[in-house]
Amino acid sequence: MHAIRISEPGGPEVLAWTEVPDPVPGEGEVLVDVAASAANRADVSQRQGNYPPPPGASEYPGLECSGTVAALGPGTEDSGWSVGDRVCALLSGGGYAEKVAVPVGQLLPVPEGVDLVEAAALPEVACTVWSNLVMVGGLRAGETVLVHGGGSGIGTFAVQFARALGARVAVTAGSREKLERCRELGAEILINYKEEDFTERMREAGGADLVLDIMGGSYLDANLRSLATNGRLVIIALMGGRRAEADLGRMLAKRLSVHATTLRSRPLEEKAAIVSGVLEQVWPLVEQGVVRPVVDRSVPMRNAAEAHRVMETSAHTGKILLPR
Ligand SMILES: NC(=O)c1ccc[n+]([C@@H]2O[C@H](COP(=O)([O-])OP(=O)(O)OC[C@H]3O[C@@H](n4cnc5c(N)ncnc54)[C@H](OP(=O)(O)O)[C@@H]3O)[C@@H](O)[C@H]2O)c1
Repeated sequence: MHAIRISEPGGPEVLAWTEVPDPVPGEGEVLVDVAASAANRADVSQRQGNYPPPPGASEYPGLECSGTVAALGPGTEDSGWSVGDRVCALLSGGGYAEKVAVPVGQLLPVPEGVDLVEAAALPEVACTVWSNLVMVGGLRAGETVLVHGGGSGIGTFAVQFARALGARVAVTAGSREKLERCRELGAEILINYKEEDFTERMREAGGADLVLDIMGGSYLDANLRSLATNGRLVIIALMGGRRAEADLGRMLAKRLSVHATTLRSRPLEEKAAIVSGVLEQVWPLVEQGVVRPVVDRSVPMRNAAEAHRVMETSAHTGKILLPR
């Protein structure tokens, strides 16, 4: 098969479409014939040498894919999956390839009304958003959630999903166009972080019950100031650095909590539990058309370097698909 290999840590040019051995599904895995993958910011970090694959994961980038089950590995005969099933999958790596071995607990059916290629835009955002907003953050109807980077792949999904849960949604983004797209997706409080102080806007709005953060260090203090009493901060990325000072007095007084998670490093059982929660609670919303994949553009997988160049400039809104 062919896969995108990272020849050495570096810029997008180190991504090369290369002939490599086919993966062999191990115990509890199936082989998927990939229709498409999608770019994630984490793939950019992996390419730069800053986010190595966890032990046992494929060395090729790609945290999600869609495709067709091509073979059943040992121990999967009674898994309910059959050769020919149309699936999408959460991966620990290896999605930028023609074939990938996937633990059965990380497979999802392609939701009705979503085409096979487009389905590659869903697993990573659905699992990240559901696990962090619901499982970790405990978001409930009537609460206010602030989503940083509302125009991102994660953000565009989080806005729709939080709205569907009955939450009031605030977003930050760096352009009027991205904020307008977030408004169309259901956000009510639109904050251009380049021009406005989001803490001030959130104070006027009564504070956030939950903040879904991608900046980390540079936003820690401002995020804590943006939270209402009993507020929860859930950090899922460190685009603004990993170190910061926090005013613990503010946390005590407002009874705040801070959580930080990555999906990729969770053990198989936890990923499977998240995937099953997504199937139960998110897939029906996708099938009803309440939550939809937001695709900025498609770039052929062999040209993944071009997708990474777009991602690094943040010119995209939503996901960049990588069809084969
Ligand atoms: N922990 C996990 O399990 C997990 C899982 C998936 C993704 N993630 C992380 O979630 C983040 C989003 O992922 P993605 O793949 O959706 O990436 P993406 O589409 O590339 O989005 C990154 C976004 O950040 C925005 N941004 C940059 N600086 C900002 C700032 N100061 N304030 C607010 N927004 C800012 C960018 O747009 P503008 O500046 O133009 O607004 C862009 O939309 C990434 O950092 C990724 O690593 C974490």
